[in-house]
Amino acid sequence: MKITVIGSGYVGLVTGACLAELGNHVFCLDLDQQKIDLLNSGGVPIYEPGLDAMIARNRDAGRIQFSTDIQAAVDHGDIQFIAVGTPSKEDGSADLQHVLSAAQHIGQHMSGYKVIVNKSTVPVGTADQVKATINEVLSETNRVIDFSVVSNPEFLKEGAAIDDFMHPDRIVIGTYEDDAGCQAKDWMRKLYAPFNRHHERTYYMDVRSAELTKYAANAMLATRISFMNELANLADYVGADIDQVRQGIGSDARIGYGFLYAGTGYGGSCFPKDVRALVQTGNQYQQDLKILKAVESVNTTQKLILVRKVVNRYGDDLKGKTFAIWGLSFKPNTDDMREAPSRMIIKELVGRGAKVQAYDPVAMKEAQHCFNLDFRESPQNLEQITLCETMLSALKGCDALILITEWKEFRSPDFTQLKNSLIDSVIFDGRNLYEPNEMTNFGFEYYGVGRCN
Ligand code: UGA
Repeated sequence: MKITVIGSGYVGLVTGACLAELGNHVFCLDLDQQKIDLLNSGGVPIYEPGLDAMIARNRDAGRIQFSTDIQAAVDHGDIQFIAVGTPSKEDGSADLQHVLSAAQHIGQHMSGYKVIVNKSTVPVGTADQVKATINEVLSETNRVIDFSVVSNPEFLKEGAAIDDFMHPDRIVIGTYEDDAGCQAKDWMRKLYAPFNRHHERTYYMDVRSAELTKYAANAMLATRISFMNELANLADYVGADIDQVRQGIGSDARIGYGFLYAGTGYGGSCFPKDVRALVQTGNQYQQDLKILKAVESVNTTQKLILVRKVVNRYGDDLKGKTFAIWGLSFKPNTDDMREAPSRMIIKELVGRGAKVQAYDPVAMKEAQHCFNLDFRESPQNLEQITLCETMLSALKGCDALILITEWKEFRSPDFTQLKNSLIDSVIFDGRNLYEPNEMTNFGFEYYGVGRCN
């Protein structure tokens, strides 16, 4: 099929590349000329395992192209995916300006029936707004053209996005019930047919339910994490081990093991933004979403759990102390630093006078960029942060190690070398990557999250 994907960010590129991989002809549009130039010269603007090879393969096969040409993009695709950013506004609600501007472009340039698919994470009611925007453009220009808007939310995890796209648990498609909607449903069925060969994975529903499903999924996962973090903090006091509790409850099929890991709180571009946006949707309808407000508040506090443990150990004033930080991105296998706990933790440590030597396997460039922003009002504090080339060089001369992101290469370090590099042999493990008993046997003073210390 002929597909256009508007927005060549994380969701747009993964969607475009995977649809091309399935044999479709994909046109990726972005208004950022630099990004398109980079893509056309063989580069990929984000780090996502497997994406560069997939794009290269499909470009060579003539199935994917990148351009800033709006008219050509709208002409190309019978199905037009909107995959642009929906950042948080100051009040937490989702900013729809890019989505609606994409809708306007489609309305201005289309000349025949199109299926317009919302892939961006958008609040309930956005499909109606997209529809209204296109109708407005059509009536302003005295044109009558059939089209339909579909909600098809994505459930991709950064770092595993290609696998998630290619092996989805489910595909959610929300359509309108009118004739144009029925045709749209048929086209979407055809597009996603390769995923339904063995058994049906697609859930067809109305657009509003599809829009809410996306938020409900992320909000549920965020709730599980905050719940476990709250219990982890209790476990520290009552002398229980949250990881044993995790296994104990996860084994109940009704609960399951996923997303029960306690740690330094959730970050990234999705959970924080989506929980806040859903709370705002509630507010719009005078519905106070109390659980979700608590989920967010627990998460904000949790991002500083390691700082609290450091302060308990070393006192409030951290002048003269240097901490090694392993892991800066909000989770492994991505260079994404959006709402990463590392940013709050480092800001607090440095604010208390400490020095920091940090290492991340892929997020160093992104981290430097974020620290420049975070410390623009206190440049003297920025000087207290050194970005190191290797995980071992980050340890040199440090009092303690603080592990924030559970990259694979941090799983089994040479603990003897680690111990010899640190002045105090102290580990603050924000992801419960290590076993407390083993660490004690190695002679470390070990602090996990919810592991009796
Ligand atoms: C999340 C969802 O998992 C995807 O299904 C969804 O499509 C995506 O948001 C989105 O809306 O675009 P993502 O943000 O990439 O994906 O990352 P996750 O793997 O879900 O992790 C989110 C955060 O939760 C990370 O900071 C991670 O460290 C934290 N987390 C995750 C925990 O603290 N504990 C856990 O048990 C699991």
